[in-house]
Amino acid sequence: MNILAIESSCDETAAAIVKDGREVLSNVVASQIDIHAKYGGVVPEVAARAHVQSIIPVVKESLSKAKINWKEIDAIAVTQGPGLVGSLIVGTETARTLSILKNKPLIAVNHLEGHIYANWIGKNQPQFPLVALLVSGGHTMLIEVEDHYKFKIIGQTRDDAAGEAFDKVAALLTLHYPGGPNISKLAEKGNENKYKFPIIDLTPEPKRNADGFLEYPEASLDFSLSGLKTAVLNVVKQSKSLSEKEKSDISASFQKTLVDTLVQNSTRAIEKSQPKSFILSGGVAANKELREKLEKMRKDLNVKFYMPDIAYCTDNAVMIGAAAYYKQKEFGFTEPKNLEPDPNLKLA
Ligand code: KG4
Ligand code: ZN
Repeated sequence: MNILAIESSCDETAAAIVKDGREVLSNVVASQIDIHAKYGGVVPEVAARAHVQSIIPVVKESLSKAKINWKEIDAIAVTQGPGLVGSLIVGTETARTLSILKNKPLIAVNHLEGHIYANWIGKNQPQFPLVALLVSGGHTMLIEVEDHYKFKIIGQTRDDAAGEAFDKVAALLTLHYPGGPNISKLAEKGNENKYKFPIIDLTPEPKRNADGFLEYPEASLDFSLSGLKTAVLNVVKQSKSLSEKEKSDISASFQKTLVDTLVQNSTRAIEKSQPKSFILSGGVAANKELREKLEKMRKDLNVKFYMPDIAYCTDNAVMIGAAAYYKQKEFGFTEPKNLEPDPNLKLA
């Protein structure tokens, strides 16, 4: 089955042709990073306009790169949400129109499902039940996945998302948007033990019961990441202008603390759920330190570990094609042709 997949939820206009959910026939991503960098972040109206300009050329390129014609396309998949409404409209309207014109079934995909299914691209086939750590610009979650499309959120951030923390700290250090890759590059030259930033653990303190024994509550799998950003802000405020060395040390110390927080709750989730495999996903999954520390955790916990190739961590349409394939396998083609975007779409 050849699926044409379209993704436009934030600031990448992307289209891809994916065969049987795993084989990448083409992968086209038109990034708007240069457009948004001068504003220090994504400007929704500007993003929507840029999507309008690129969507048709990007879809055409995905077909020509795959050397495929419309007859060989079996379905059209598109990100329905969550994301920026103006951006989502461009993708869903394009997919809807093409599906009517070319008479192809539509498959609506949740962007978060897309990130998760990036782990099925290529030769990987993670075993169920599994636990997923999803870390992106808008989300930070631990999810139990019992089988295809059986998701249960078991932990999530109560304030900032991991990618958001990277981007906000990058802004404090006057680094360019998006912050994640720039922080991790600087961190390579820095001393991660220079600053002691707090790991916020939401697990309540143990209580003494009637018999005088300490009772330990179950460890919390939720995250709180905004305090870490404030701790960085306090260090930044103490200095009039930061040297490159100081910026590197702050980046390294911040990254270490954030990664350790993610690894701590991932370890707890694996101990609690006892899954067959553990998978990493979302834009922050591109972070080298996170990948290395989770790989080490995997060895200690003896669980199978999967992570997408770097190219499929940040937003792309291949992951939408992969998620769509497994969705129609599970539920069939159920989408009406009047599909509407849902900026607040929740994980099923
Ligand atoms: O998944 P994604 O492309 O978009 C959303 O769905 O949000 O994630 C983007 C986020 C941004 O916050 C970006 O700073 C972060 O992922 N990111 C990284 C790295 N590459 C991208 N964070 C840390 N290290 C990286 N190498
Ligand atoms: Zn994303």
